[in-house]
Amino acid sequence: MTPEQIIQKTIAYVKTEFERDSSGHDWWHIYRVWKNALAICQHEPADVFTVELAALLHDLDDLKLRPSPPTPLPPVEERDETPVRAAAWLRQMEVDPAVSAHVCEIITHLSFKGAGVANKISSLEGMIVQDADRLDAIGAVGIARAFAYGGHAGRPLYDPDEPPQMHQSFAQYKSSRSATINHFYEKLLLLKERMNTKTAKLIAEQRHAYMETFLDQ
Ligand code: ADP
Ligand code: NI
Repeated sequence: MTPEQIIQKTIAYVKTEFERDSSGHDWWHIYRVWKNALAICQHEPADVFTVELAALLHDLDDLKLRPSPPTPLPPVEERDETPVRAAAWLRQMEVDPAVSAHVCEIITHLSFKGAGVANKISSLEGMIVQDADRLDAIGAVGIARAFAYGGHAGRPLYDPDEPPQMHQSFAQYKSSRSATINHFYEKLLLLKERMNTKTAKLIAEQRHAYMETFLDQ
């Protein structure tokens, strides 16, 4: 298969996987991340095939999106970080093992893991996909996604008695049950300063300002 054919098959696969999601991680989130990543690639000397695969597969193994998987999963703290479903798909597509390993490494380290937790993304391709995902977490779409996720996860909208927390470990961040407004202070407002590429930093400025206006009101 040519790289183009692999991308097309991957699109068809993730589309069916994420079609029914109502937690803010539906197919169009994946699509926007893929398009954001391609736009950033215009300004960076990156391997575009790796970027595209990682963008398209980045949420496939996100366990918080699968409350009742076919096979019961161990508790979050005990789970291996390997993105097993993405890895299996890349094997099925006969993607070069070095490319596949890189894509899986990107997926493993992509997620935000708490305000005080170091970012482990190291390659340019990983930085691009991380920025692309984070651009979709902020601005108008980011606000909508945060509340969609809050509803999905059973969180209250806003609790004035509960101050935001700067989580120092992934375990702390993951186990938080706090109100969705806190998520803005615990993650979304921090993303602008943490963008890896110049292109994403520029796009983030306006989206950040929009969230500040929203929170003020
Ligand atoms: P990442 O995109 O870094 O992997 P997540 O997968 O945890 O981070 O979250 C992606 C999106 O899901 C967030 O940008 C947000 O919209 C929503 N989300 C995740 N956790 C929360 C939360 N605690 N409260 C509200 N929204 C959340
Ligand atoms: Ni995502």
